[in-house]
Amino acid sequence: MKYLSTLVIVLLFAFALSCTQKTEPVAEEPVEETASNAEAANMYKASELAQLMRNMYDSNMEMKKQIMEGKLPESFPEDFAKIHSAVATDPTVKTDAFHGMADYFVENMKAIEEADSTQIISSFNNMVNTCVSCHQMYCKGPIPKIKKLYIPEV
Ligand code: HEC
Repeated sequence: MKYLSTLVIVLLFAFALSCTQKTEPVAEEPVEETASNAEAANMYKASELAQLMRNMYDSNMEMKKQIMEGKLPESFPEDFAKIHSAVATDPTVKTDAFHGMADYFVENMKAIEEADSTQIISSFNNMVNTCVSCHQMYCKGPIPKIKKLYIPEV
């Protein structure tokens, strides 16, 4: 009973933190090392979708740098397409509208691959627009962070 209520509190806490700017995983907070706490810690690490999002942010930041150095990005990370199947912290976000936005996002990602040097900045910024639009519907917290990806157009 005691373990159960601890677990419930822990899960509620993890849920409250999901989709916020507090990107530090809750699991990193010092927890008393008992078997049941260790189990609970495993349960509230970042969801598959949240982890994918973090990777997308990092690789897009990398891509932004390349573009700003005048390079055309060479590869499009294939695992972005996992956005459809990756399990979310809150499974109810996976609606038809979500998948629609996700399709649009993957298309925009592919357009970057095909863009030439005159189109590359606007293609990249279009893709960032899709990140922001989806986040306006599902998860507003990371928007200020996502906006850092925009490449200033000259
Ligand atoms: C189709 C909708 C959609 C698109 C497109 C999308 N996101 Fe997300 N994003 C989400 C949802 C939903 C979550 C919450 C994930 C969870 O907690 O399981 C999220 C979470 C995040 C997070 C927080 C992850 C964490 O640490 O908890 C970041 C950062 C993020 N997205 C960045 C991006 C970036 C950058 C892009 C574009 C390259 C992008 N997102 C495109 C829906 C989307």
